[in-house]
Amino acid sequence: MVMVENVIKVLPTMETEDFKVLRAIEDGMRTHEWVPFDWLLDRTGMDEKELGYRLTRLDRWDMIIRTRRQEVGYLGYQLRPEGYDALALKTLTDLGVLEGMGPEFGVGKESDVRLGISPTGVELAVKFNRIGRTSLTKIKRYREYVKDKRHISWLYVNKLTAEREFEGLLHLYPEGVPVPRPVAQDRHVLVMKRFHGKELAERDVDDPEAVFEDIWDAYEMALEVGVVHGDLSQFNVVVTDEGDVLLIDWTHWVEVDHPSAEDLIKRDVRVVCDYFRRRYGLKVDERGLLRRLLPR
Ligand SMILES: Nc1ncnc2c1ncn2[C@@H]1O[C@H](COP(=O)(O)OP(=O)(O)O)[C@@H](O)[C@H]1O
Ligand SMILES: [Mg+2]
Repeated sequence: MVMVENVIKVLPTMETEDFKVLRAIEDGMRTHEWVPFDWLLDRTGMDEKELGYRLTRLDRWDMIIRTRRQEVGYLGYQLRPEGYDALALKTLTDLGVLEGMGPEFGVGKESDVRLGISPTGVELAVKFNRIGRTSLTKIKRYREYVKDKRHISWLYVNKLTAEREFEGLLHLYPEGVPVPRPVAQDRHVLVMKRFHGKELAERDVDDPEAVFEDIWDAYEMALEVGVVHGDLSQFNVVVTDEGDVLLIDWTHWVEVDHPSAEDLIKRDVRVVCDYFRRRYGLKVDERGLLRRLLPR
């Protein structure tokens, strides 16, 4: 488990120098598996004592991990997801996007989503992407990552994922497609306006036929904007407390002219049709739907 709670608790006590060292490690990871102590000295301009003090703090907060000298041949450091969280939350706070954080309200397959509060008191949803690296408690497993040269990819994969979803939402939301409102993104963290509602999987709807129709109206609107969802399911369709349908979780979207667009549309249609047949015994016209949605 990535302990974002601890990050949120520690964040207000963190000093400029702590962030400076975290940022230096983040930068260093582009070119080093393990960012050398000496490189950090150079980069931060700190003396050994100051740098050592900052690294000890960051280590105590589980934001970084250090090598053993005998294995790498020198003393080096890497960011842990908690350190990456701290950097993103700090940036989003400095940008005036976030003022406070609240409880978690969704743990998806590949993310944690928590309540955030804007400086003006607006409720936000803060999505932390967590692909590939859910547990780092076992050093042994971690070494395998390094061996596979995947030591930096978790940073980039999660960052790219957040960027990608933000980009998708920026295409969709202004065109009136019912999706969460995008607010900001930094590193692996996406900030949206919070909605009040539940996933289809978690709620019985009174009028399944109407909801089914609303889903495909929304889906078709997205296609008109040029965007294929690609990961549609009962977990990624929300019915809000007002009874409106929202399509969420746009991390897998592709452009309509992408080579796999057609397969993804078919997949989305099949998954949702299966669900409505199974749960509500709805008679769905899957073929008619495909005729309507697939590019001609
Ligand atoms: N904007 C939001 N407002 C409120 N809850 C949200 C919001 N975005 C996501 N959630 C909650 O978090 C869960 C996971 O989000 P999702 O985007 O589907 O990520 P994942 O890729 O991990 O499935 C959702 O099912 C929902 O319960
Ligand atoms: Mg989801």
